[in-house]
Amino acid sequence: MAWVLGIESSCDETAAAVVAEDGRVRSDVVFSQIAVHARYGGVVPELASRAHVSAIVPVVRQALGQAGIGLDALSGIAVTRGPGLVGALLVGVQVAKAMAFARGLPLVGVNHLDGHLLAVGLRRAETDPPPPPYPYVALLASGGHTSVCRVDAANRIRQLGATRDDAAGEAYDKVAKLLGLGYPGGPIVDRLAASGDPRAVKLPRGLRGQSLDFSFSGLKTAVAQHVRSRGRPGTEQGLADLCASFQASVVETLVTKTLRAAIREDVRHVVLCGGVAANRGLRASARAACDEQGLTLVVPPVASCTDNAAMIALAGALALDRGERAGLDLSVDPHLAVGA
Ligand code: KG4
Ligand code: ZN
Repeated sequence: MAWVLGIESSCDETAAAVVAEDGRVRSDVVFSQIAVHARYGGVVPELASRAHVSAIVPVVRQALGQAGIGLDALSGIAVTRGPGLVGALLVGVQVAKAMAFARGLPLVGVNHLDGHLLAVGLRRAETDPPPPPYPYVALLASGGHTSVCRVDAANRIRQLGATRDDAAGEAYDKVAKLLGLGYPGGPIVDRLAASGDPRAVKLPRGLRGQSLDFSFSGLKTAVAQHVRSRGRPGTEQGLADLCASFQASVVETLVTKTLRAAIREDVRHVVLCGGVAANRGLRASARAACDEQGLTLVVPPVASCTDNAAMIALAGALALDRGERAGLDLSVDPHLAVGA
């Protein structure tokens, strides 16, 4: 079995994992910097770079230790080369290059977005849902990206639509900040929304037409205007109602466009990925809509949705298998697009 070490440092998680090209996960270590950034209500790039520098070597050691594998047993090293924060990306890429050079191991650069889109192929436990066959349509909704893509193969990925402004996770985080709920906002708003009335506050749906693109900034502004004119809800129920109304708008938009893409592309399998795919409202609504349309929905476990290095190791293992190799001149690309 060819085991690949994956390294991820594109944003605020320092992560390393050992994975085989068939998706089997031997170790998966994620060091979250949430504590570093929480007081600022968002990721501070320079602090992220510094935290990666101090965390990366212990995280890589832990991943190899948990896998019970030495560097000599690896068949390659995969590292996120973009998109993301330039200083943060450089930390992972430099460490990967140094290890590859020192041990004479093959090196490959991985697109973080492609990693999310392929994470459904990870095999963490026997209970994981089987990966869907190609082609599948995937909604990728995270803190930095929101797009709907068609995946025909690990190296044939096409974006069908994307957000024109804020990412879905970013909208969650900004609304949570506005309501003084803490960071990251997604899980908190999700929890509050569960006990709220989604019809309590009338909020807009972004880009309602036939387009497969998304827009969430108008929704965010509408929540801000609501809070400005009515004040922050004074009761727990009022807060839950506002969160439920906001979530209903985001989820309706995400589900409608994803299903429209699957139907337009005549693809039978739908996948949710990225941190927002952890959202319970989104999972339930996507499940109901796919059932109604006779489509098969596959949602990976939460650990495969949020940022992790296992998805980078898998995408890298598949690339190494295809014969892809990066040289020691591998550079980062903070603006790398899906499938690029
Ligand atoms: O994929 P991810 O871990 O990192 C990025 O690549 O951005 O996604 C993080 C984003 C954050 O914006 C966070 O608020 C959001 O995913 N998120 C959620 C939930 N859990 C995480 N959003 C909505 N509901 C959730 N349960
Ligand atoms: Zn991500």
